[in-house]
Amino acid sequence: MTAERDFIDALMGAMTLQEKVGQLNYPPSEGFDTTGVAGTVDLPERIRRGEIGGTAGANLEDRRTLQRLAVSEGPSKIPLLFGVDVIHGHKTVVPVPLGLACSWDLDLIERTGRMAATEARAEGINVTWSPMVDIGYDARWGRVAEGSGELVHLGAEIARTMVQAYQGTDNDLARPDRVMATLKHFAGYGLSMAGRDYNSVEASPATLHRIMAPFKAGIEAGAGALMVAFNTVNDIPATAHKELLQDLLREDWGFDGLVVTDFTAVMELINHGIASDLEEATYLAFAAGITTDLVSEGFVRHLPDLVTQGRVSMEEVDTACRRVLSAKWALGLFEDPFLGMDEGRYERVALSAQNRALAREAAASSCVLLKNEGQALPLQRDGGAIALIGPLAENRVDMQGTWAVAADPMLNVTLLEGFRESAGAQLDIHFAKGCNIVDDPNLAARLNVHNRDNPSVVIDPRGKEAMIEEALQVARSASVVVVCLGEAKEHAGESSTREDITIPMAQRPLFDALADYTLSAGKKLILVVIAGRPLALAHEAERADAILFSFHPGIEGGHAIADVLFGDVDPSGRLAMAFPRHGGQLPLQSEHLPTGRPIGGAGITVEGDDERIDGEPVFRKFTTATILEGSSEPLFPVGFGLGYTIFDYGDPMAEKNELVGEKDVLEVMVIITNTGTRAGVTTAQLYVRDPVATVSRPVLELKGFVRLAIEPGGSASAVFSLRSEDLTFIKARTISQYEEDWEEGAFEIMTGPHVGTLKSLSVQWHKGSQPDHPGPGDLVANR
Ligand code: BGC
Repeated sequence: MTAERDFIDALMGAMTLQEKVGQLNYPPSEGFDTTGVAGTVDLPERIRRGEIGGTAGANLEDRRTLQRLAVSEGPSKIPLLFGVDVIHGHKTVVPVPLGLACSWDLDLIERTGRMAATEARAEGINVTWSPMVDIGYDARWGRVAEGSGELVHLGAEIARTMVQAYQGTDNDLARPDRVMATLKHFAGYGLSMAGRDYNSVEASPATLHRIMAPFKAGIEAGAGALMVAFNTVNDIPATAHKELLQDLLREDWGFDGLVVTDFTAVMELINHGIASDLEEATYLAFAAGITTDLVSEGFVRHLPDLVTQGRVSMEEVDTACRRVLSAKWALGLFEDPFLGMDEGRYERVALSAQNRALAREAAASSCVLLKNEGQALPLQRDGGAIALIGPLAENRVDMQGTWAVAADPMLNVTLLEGFRESAGAQLDIHFAKGCNIVDDPNLAARLNVHNRDNPSVVIDPRGKEAMIEEALQVARSASVVVVCLGEAKEHAGESSTREDITIPMAQRPLFDALADYTLSAGKKLILVVIAGRPLALAHEAERADAILFSFHPGIEGGHAIADVLFGDVDPSGRLAMAFPRHGGQLPLQSEHLPTGRPIGGAGITVEGDDERIDGEPVFRKFTTATILEGSSEPLFPVGFGLGYTIFDYGDPMAEKNELVGEKDVLEVMVIITNTGTRAGVTTAQLYVRDPVATVSRPVLELKGFVRLAIEPGGSASAVFSLRSEDLTFIKARTISQYEEDWEEGAFEIMTGPHVGTLKSLSVQWHKGSQPDHPGPGDLVANR
């Protein structure tokens, strides 16, 4: 620490003000796409003038050249940061983060993060704009693909895991397999109104605190950087939100790392209507606590004048500059500006067979089996032929998912390739495209925005009828029909809000024709959906025999999906975000507050309305928050997912049901038996409810999960430990003025395989102190 301080003191002592603000500037690089409206810059000349602290760099060679220039010709010879979006793998692309979250497998997620860090550092990248830890409830918002879903606890665990994967558990960034993590987007971005990207966010301070838990977890794990959100937070753009960035993040949470804007966010303060020009926008963002101006060039142009005017102090500039230099020190760049970039390393570490095997494992573990009637899956290798139909079945580019900026889409394995390899000589695979992903040429062009030279969303000249006819012929030639439908990669991700979250309607006639045919022919119809967000699948769920859902699976997608369909891998993915019946249900939040007229109240009988669930009338006029045309419940609840075997969950059991104080620990155990005939993995989940508190508390909140592999006929116990800290919540007057505590009383503890089927027990937890040696107790199940 003293060595670092002495070094930085000496360095800064010799730097001019212009050079110091240069360290806060991160302009775009030629040859590397940026979002927002960015200008172009002459990087070499500006590096020589000391006006640049970091950039993206187009590729390894470019990064080497720019770094060489910075450390040999820059005025103070300060190395550059190279920050890039390394989001779901780097060269070896793994499933989009929402898919990975569905694995609920922290060890696997960590391994994918470490692989990405190693590949990225070998390509000269030392900072990643990841993990994205925004909790989201609205599947219209394309960026749900980038996050870990809707459950705060799962999101926090994944945030912590990803930071440790990128930075190492020792946070030693000066190693060739480490990159600095950036938690984003602070804060509230996942609540963008109506799922429209960049839209404003209105949320109570308590709600904000709840969904900020993943940031807190990531900061506790040592994240070096944090990116601020584009949106307003209760009327103030986050980029200029002093209370959020200074009072809460810096002072209360003690975050000491880099606070970077999102791309062009300083200049966007003008569009937000809180600054009339870039100078004022610069002042507002800097005063709020931003250290790094990504792409707006406001800091480098205007901070020196703001210092001269006395609006910004030299000391504040020094503090920000010191933070950037300290990040470079931590990354080991002053010692070796080329750390990790040594000749031949990239070729050695990127896209190795081992990495591809991990990508395959990750993609298979992310698949969620949503329906499997009559054991339609797994597919049998018993001779004959399988029909594989659909516009995503032989699509290479769209397997990749939304944020794999540095990867080569031509390396992705298609589902057809995966099928052919998996089937081997035992089965014939007959293929037809069947329909287009979309029929609208304008939309197709938009979806090809990043691969205009090699479009993946292509409108077939043959016309719909001819394509369906070909698909039916292929279906007739096979004993089982697998249809692969869904979204192109650019249907999801940034700037990809959808108004209708069904499988694009251009694909519906094909699905219906195959459903009619398979029904009449007595064949099974298996639907594989590849998409970037939860979709409303009520129509398909009625008609398909089986549905396997894969979020855009990455480079090994074709192999991995085939592994699951053929039963070589048990489907172990569980939804990290509920799937609605209909887009009109959105936003859909499982950890929601109760209403005064909760779902589940008594229904009423109305003549002519025959809908019943378990013999009870469904219509609940005046008694519940009902939806007239349907149900308020999701089609597939959070945590849900089938496997090829069956698990029986016992009641939750606890040693005691009276607890006292902060040191007491509640151990909850559930015995789970595999009653099927195959080995499988289940994810046991534990949710808590505080039914009576001084403020309304969610109907359930995830507090623990454990993945268990169980042999057929075998049993295993899931054991959870709860402490009073798991019961705490925040009561907030404002974002920075809040209290965090738990309230004594009854708590409902619920366990099970997903929120649709939980069993519960009740405990009393009192304030006070626990006697030192609580006696042993017997496990008791209570209701
Ligand atoms: C996104 C960020 C991303 C940045 C750079 C922005 O538009 O919001 O998440 O890191 O672009 O690509």
